[in-house]
Amino acid sequence: MARTHLIGMLLGVEEDWPAAFEALLGRADLAVREGGETHRFTTERMTIEPFDLRMRPRQSLVIDRLGWWYPMPREWLKKVVLMDHVHLLNNPFTFQAMEKHAAYCAMIRLGLKVPETWMLPNKTPPDNPRFQGTAERYLRYFDLEAVARAVGMPLYMKPFDGGAWVGVSRIENAETLYRAYDESEQRLMHLQASVDGYDVFARSLGIGAETIVLNFHPEKPMHDRYSVDHNFLTPRAGDEVLSILRTVNAFFRWELNSCETLIRGDDVYPIDYANATPDLALTSLHYYFPWAIRSLLKWVVFCCVTGRLQTVDLNTEAYYAIADRADLSYEEKLAGYRKLADKQLDIERYRDFCAQHLAHIDELSVAWVESADFDRIIVETVRNTFPAHEHEQFIAHFRGLMAAWAHDQRAAAA
Ligand SMILES: Nc1ncnc2c1ncn2[C@@H]1O[C@H](COP(=O)(O)OP(=O)(O)O)[C@@H](O)[C@H]1O
Ligand SMILES: [Mg+2]
Repeated sequence: MARTHLIGMLLGVEEDWPAAFEALLGRADLAVREGGETHRFTTERMTIEPFDLRMRPRQSLVIDRLGWWYPMPREWLKKVVLMDHVHLLNNPFTFQAMEKHAAYCAMIRLGLKVPETWMLPNKTPPDNPRFQGTAERYLRYFDLEAVARAVGMPLYMKPFDGGAWVGVSRIENAETLYRAYDESEQRLMHLQASVDGYDVFARSLGIGAETIVLNFHPEKPMHDRYSVDHNFLTPRAGDEVLSILRTVNAFFRWELNSCETLIRGDDVYPIDYANATPDLALTSLHYYFPWAIRSLLKWVVFCCVTGRLQTVDLNTEAYYAIADRADLSYEEKLAGYRKLADKQLDIERYRDFCAQHLAHIDELSVAWVESADFDRIIVETVRNTFPAHEHEQFIAHFRGLMAAWAHDQRAAAA
């Protein structure tokens, strides 16, 4: 029996990684034999149109990049997860609550070292005729400076649901505190204690069972924020960052998410880890871009063949049971969460599956990165991203980084 899995992609304007993913999957031309069936794979970019709530989708799996801002596809995803046998990488219910706030709460509940964080009532109230009467009865006047003192200066004021640094300000005195609060208008804000003088900013990216931890430089321009760096963390810190990423992802049922952690001394502080539409751009991931595409391919194929299904159910109680154990240290709790997470993400089975069915993909992806097909993606992406006078320089820059990746891959395999 043969079965062709349709992989749907709900996309915005990004072209680079979707084109790369389609190209690598096409080149791999997989026929995976498992459970008496031969599994093949094809992709489709999905369109947005009216749908019958009883319609049966054709996809085995959908990669969503729209649900975080676009209600119509988001509601389609919710229908699918409740009704149909389609795997979604990210749970659309927790993803909708993917504001930082929910993630902070859950991880504080698990005892992670989230810096002191408070929420403020929005400066400009909700535009609702009920507000006035409600406020007169129940909205308390508060002393903004007292809250800031409780959090501790310096601090960051940032939107509870933020992303892409929008509305984030560093506050060092009362003047900037009031100004930032006034400017926040309708947005609900957190005040969060700053982790000052950190040694490393690590950004980790999880794609199902695959994870990578990268050295991140937020002060640099986009194309230069990740440095190519293999040993920037001690093994202990590296493992802790990985455990935090896996815990967040498994807890919320996210399989495509990035996590920001600040490392100071022996402490790992998670500050931003609800990014369920993580940056996958070739121009920002550069050297690590082929890894991301290859990992996405492997994970998607694994999910389709093994019939993995996203659900609305979470397993929060199992995590809280560990969190509530007075006899366990922070490290022991984290190890407990990691165990649950590795099980939820099916790490072991995924490894076996890759060894059995996808062992040739690594080599194939290196040859692809060295091909003219891949070069076309670099050239087009640069032309779509940078002004004309920078094209030549950046094409050479990214070609060099991709060649370095291919070279390192060949050296590691030899
Ligand atoms: N608690 C903090 N300590 C130190 N730096 C912080 C803290 N919170 C935010 N930042 C800085 O501000 C940037 C943006 O904040 P972040 O929470 O990541 O928001 P966004 O979701 O917009 O990326 C971070 O990448 C970091 O450089
Ligand atoms: Mg961030």
